[in-house]
Amino acid sequence: MTDIVWHKHEIDQLARGRQKGQKPVLLWFTGLSGSGKSTLAGALEQALFSANFHTYLLDGDNVRHGLCKDLGFSMQDRDENLRRVGEVAKLMVDSGLVVLSAFISPTKQERDRVRELFSDGEFIEVHVSTPLEVCEQRDPKGLYAKARQGEIANFTGISSPYEAPEAAELTIDTSKGDLSLQVNALMSYLNAIQVID
Ligand code: PPS
Repeated sequence: MTDIVWHKHEIDQLARGRQKGQKPVLLWFTGLSGSGKSTLAGALEQALFSANFHTYLLDGDNVRHGLCKDLGFSMQDRDENLRRVGEVAKLMVDSGLVVLSAFISPTKQERDRVRELFSDGEFIEVHVSTPLEVCEQRDPKGLYAKARQGEIANFTGISSPYEAPEAAELTIDTSKGDLSLQVNALMSYLNAIQVID
């Protein structure tokens, strides 16, 4: 990389965010399959969008149809999945957006590696802490049943580990309480830290 020099652009992240009336950040939703990451992130994005903020939602299932369609669920592939997503999210935050992401992101090391790409206060980790028993009971895609029958290898929570965050900025258990109240709490938090006003 010695022959490649960073080119500093005239318009910076601060200016892009200011133009959109917001502070660009990444809200990183992490949790088990079926924990409600996508539902919660999607509902929050709708609330932000309705209030005229500029957002984008990166979701594991969707990203794995394109950018990461060559990757599976070994630890090595998950690491690469999250490395790519982290870099894409960084570009999107740089463009002035409030970015939301919903990936299992099972290891502390990978989540911290993404956090390190951002300045203080720009990476907001939201642990969707819905217990495994509830996720397995919901089983919206029938994947837990398949994993229990040995039809899916390396399934998070069953045959592959999930390390819960120790110091997430926010923790939400979607089996307790109402979705709209959880979205309101997230909106209030974003307001309190002056991402939106
Ligand atoms: S990771 O660990 O962050 O790279 O995973 P992610 O990109 O978020 O993809 C998770 C979705 O892929 C489906 N799926 C699996 N999940 C976990 N383990 C295995 N082996 C697996 N195989 C397929 C599953 O639908 C996940 O979606 P969510 O929305 O989390 O339920």
